[in-house]
Amino acid sequence: MIQPVRNRADLLDALERVRGAGAAPVTNWFATPERIDYWIGRDSLSLLQGERELLILRRDRGFHRIYHSAADLGALSAVLRNASAEPAINGVLAADLIGRPQEVDRVAGIYRENGFADHNFLVRMIRLAAPEEAVESEPGVAFAGPADVAPAADFLDRLLDPYTDQIPDEDEIRDAAARGNLILVRRGESVAGLLLFETVGITSHLRYWYVDGAARNQGIGARLIRQFFRLSSGSKRWILWVASGNSDAIAKYRHYGFQPETLVDRIMIRR
Ligand SMILES: CC(C)(COP(=O)(O)OP(=O)(O)OC[C@H]1O[C@@H](n2cnc3c(N)ncnc32)[C@H](O)[C@@H]1OP(=O)(O)O)[C@@H](O)C(=O)NCCC(=O)NCCS
Repeated sequence: MIQPVRNRADLLDALERVRGAGAAPVTNWFATPERIDYWIGRDSLSLLQGERELLILRRDRGFHRIYHSAADLGALSAVLRNASAEPAINGVLAADLIGRPQEVDRVAGIYRENGFADHNFLVRMIRLAAPEEAVESEPGVAFAGPADVAPAADFLDRLLDPYTDQIPDEDEIRDAAARGNLILVRRGESVAGLLLFETVGITSHLRYWYVDGAARNQGIGARLIRQFFRLSSGSKRWILWVASGNSDAIAKYRHYGFQPETLVDRIMIRR
């Protein structure tokens, strides 16, 4: 039976139990304690538990993201079958399957057997620190303030795909702005382009780099990313996820020294 998740300790216990139940555990659940508490605070997590497997459901915009943890691939198959038979699990389900290509393909095969179809395929790119990083501050690029939160949220809603991109809500955008992790180029009352990043330890994660469709290829994206490199100049590595078919963005990332690495993210959807 599916149950709401009320506290982080219960969830971590359930994950630990399943992980210890088999020799080859599989999971696609990676979340920091802060994220888990944020979601629990919004009542957006629920759990379907078995002996050797579990599914976590996270309510997103009109659909659920699902995360599995299973003792082995057989247990994963069992929990996805159980989910198909559970009336409380309805509507669109989306899963991010992250890992090395071969591992992800094995797991994706089991999702396909249980009614999921491929939606998108992301690759991770990485850039390592170069010795000469000193860059001038970029003109026209500003830190987002409280008044930018709603326009930034509208801008991302318009440009992002809810299944592929984890669209941040206004609270997340406000937090990023307060931490100095959201920069933008304004055009009147609206946003011409923005960049949102997170730095943890020596790693800076470029989460969103978007320029309005009508303003692309005019140097706005360049100003944003150069300012980002300046703001994260203490980092040793920069990472990002990009759709493997987005050859325009990939060419631009390569131009700035990013290289594809081994991790992939296969996004699967059951409608
Ligand atoms: C990716 C994106 C943010 C770039 O913004 P932009 O304003 O179009 O980019 P710019 O015109 O400033 O070009 C950025 C850099 O790429 C270079 N560039 C342009 N076309 C290129 C190409 N085909 N190959 C290599 N480099 C290229 C530019 O010369 C510039 O480099 P510079 O700083 O040395 O001058 C924008 O195109 C966009 O919003 N795309 C859709 C959203 C998207 O795919 N975002 C990334 C998702 S992960």
